[in-house]
Amino acid sequence: MSQERWNAVDDFVTALVVDEDDALRAAVADSAQAGLPQIAVSPPQGKMLQLLARVHGARTILELGTLAAYSTIWLARALPPDGHLVTLELQPHFAQVARANIERAGLSALVEQRVGPASESLDALREEGAGPFDMVFIDADKARTPEYFTQALELTRPGALFVVDNVVRDGELANQRTDDPGVRGMRRLHKQLAGDERFSATTIQTVGVKGYDGFTLILRN
Ligand SMILES: C[S@@+](CC[C@H](N)C(=O)[O-])C[C@H]1O[C@@H](n2cnc3c(N)ncnc32)[C@H](O)[C@@H]1O
Repeated sequence: MSQERWNAVDDFVTALVVDEDDALRAAVADSAQAGLPQIAVSPPQGKMLQLLARVHGARTILELGTLAAYSTIWLARALPPDGHLVTLELQPHFAQVARANIERAGLSALVEQRVGPASESLDALREEGAGPFDMVFIDADKARTPEYFTQALELTRPGALFVVDNVVRDGELANQRTDDPGVRGMRRLHKQLAGDERFSATTIQTVGVKGYDGFTLILRN
């Protein structure tokens, strides 16, 4: 199987069922124009996040890693009119591009952006008594994913759904000798979840325009 074939399938799926609209396409175009890294979720993955939020009936969503708000837009569109999404981003320039993309998508009333290190934003949210969040999407600096999961957990309700991106990393997740900090973070996450009856989790491997990677889904029991 080749990257070319994975791309062709993603293109086919995107053209027929994903419904990526002008606001989403403009978010990608403007993010490229502004020089941001092109590492957002793919269109089928964005739609998957939106479907998960809808199936889950999420009214409040916490996102770690805004980038240009591509995934933010997919997720926020799953919310009811009185829903709320808080998205955390380290880079002020990225957050600025994201703000314009959120505004163009007509989602400013639903989305709250916080700029700074996610660990500090999560502490601040806890101190403010924010939440509880129904769904959390973790997609920031990968090495710290287990710490983010622990911090975000305190902001959720029982029954909350966590989705973690970039978990499989070309299969390196299974490499116990890896020295990649991101992969080590994802291996630590799995060890953290192992045998903990508070959670029900699985990891699904994916291929597509983003290469070979995967998502972890965690339900807080
Ligand atoms: C993979 S991108 C997010 C992509 C976005 N969720 C999407 O799919 O459209 C990861 C983002 O996390 C941000 N990030 C990295 N370290 C961070 C930190 N310590 N705190 C908050 N955000 C961070 C990066 O600047 C980057 O924008």
